[in-house]
Amino acid sequence: MKTQVVKITDPQKQSQDVKHAADIIRDGGLVAFPTETVYGLGGDATNPLSSKKIYDAKGRPSDNPLIIHIAEPSDAEAYAYTNHVYYKLAEAFMPGPLTVILPKKETVPYETTGGLDTVAVRCPSHPIAHAMIKAAGVPIAAPSANISGRPSATSAKYVVEDFNGRVDMIVDSGDCEIGLESTIVMIDEKISDEGIVLLRPGAITYDALCCVCKDVLISPNIEGALGENERPISPGMKYKHYAPAAPLVLLDGDDESFISYLSNEQKNKNCAILCYDEDISKLDDKLLLTIGPKGDVATQSRRLFSRLRECDELKPDIIYAHLPDKNGLGLALYNRMIRAAAHTVIKIE
Ligand code: TXA
Ligand code: MG
Repeated sequence: MKTQVVKITDPQKQSQDVKHAADIIRDGGLVAFPTETVYGLGGDATNPLSSKKIYDAKGRPSDNPLIIHIAEPSDAEAYAYTNHVYYKLAEAFMPGPLTVILPKKETVPYETTGGLDTVAVRCPSHPIAHAMIKAAGVPIAAPSANISGRPSATSAKYVVEDFNGRVDMIVDSGDCEIGLESTIVMIDEKISDEGIVLLRPGAITYDALCCVCKDVLISPNIEGALGENERPISPGMKYKHYAPAAPLVLLDGDDESFISYLSNEQKNKNCAILCYDEDISKLDDKLLLTIGPKGDVATQSRRLFSRLRECDELKPDIIYAHLPDKNGLGLALYNRMIRAAAHTVIKIE
C-alpha cells in the first residue's frame, strides 16, 4: 500500500486536506494523526472492519480495546451511557488529555472495545484532531500510533518509521505538546456517587482529578507489576510496553551516586544514558541523551518516547536513566518509565 504523508499546520486554511483525511476514515481506511498527547492511528470507531485493520497494522492483540475520539463531550451520548460524573470531568478537562471509561451503547461494535461492554471516550484538544473528527462525522478509534510494544510516537517521523506502507495516510503536524498518553479514569459508582479509579496517569494529574471528584482511587497497577494471574481493569496494562530494543534500567539514588555509578559503567559497558541537562558535563558524552532539566517534568515527559527511540538507533547493550519522582505529572512519567524498564530498578548509594 502507498502511504500519503501530508503536512497540515492550519486546519482552516487546509480544509481540503482535512476533508481528504476524513473521507479516508469514513471509507474504512486508516489515517495516523496528531493529538496533544501522542500520534494516534485512526479509523472509523463504528466500523468493525476499521478496528480490525487497526489491530492488524499495529500487531496488537484484539482484546486490548481502543479509545474513541469525539469532537464535543456531548457526542459521547450517541456511543455511551454518561452520568453527572462524566459531565463534571468533561467540564473541567475536555477538550484535553483525559479518557473516561463508560458503559457502551450498541453503536460501538465489540471489535472496537476488545469485547468489553465499556468504551473509552476522549475529546482531544489538538485543533487538527478536532477538525478531522468533525469532518469525519464519526468517532475516530485510535490507539497510539506505534507498533505494539514500541514507544508511542510523538512526532510524525516515528509514525512513518512504524507505518509507512501499512496505512492510507499519515498527517504530519510536528511534535506533540504533552508526549505521554492521556489520563484514563473509570467511573465507579460502587466507590461513591463521585467515585473514579485512575487507570493510567497522564497530564491530568491525580491532584487535578481530586479537585473535581470526591473519591479518586489509584489503580495499584500504575506503580507495581501485575501478579502472575492478576487481571487488570484496563487490558493494556498486562502487555509489555514502550520498550526500547536494549534493556532499560532505572537508578534509584541521589545525583552524586548516579554520576559515580555511571562513570564506572561507561568504562566497562556499551551503555546509553538518559540524563538530566545538569548531568551532561559530569559524564563522558558517549551515548548520552538528555531528557531535560532536572526539575522540568513536562519537558522530560515530552521527550521520553523520542529519546527511547533514539536509543535504539545508537544500539547500546543497556540503557540507564534516573528513576523519576511520583509527584504531579511525575506519576505519569514514572509509570511509563517503570514499564519501559520492565520494573528493573537498581538502588544506588
Ligand atoms: O493519549 C491517548 O490516549 C492516545 C491518543 C492517540 O489519544 N491513545 C492511546 O491509546 O494511548 P492506546 O490504545 O495506546 O491506549 C489505550 C489504553 C489501553 O491500555 C487500553 O487497554 C485502555 O486504554 N482501554 C481502552 N478501552 C478500555 C476499556 N473499555 N476499559 C478499560 N481500559 C480500556
Ligand atoms: Mg499505546
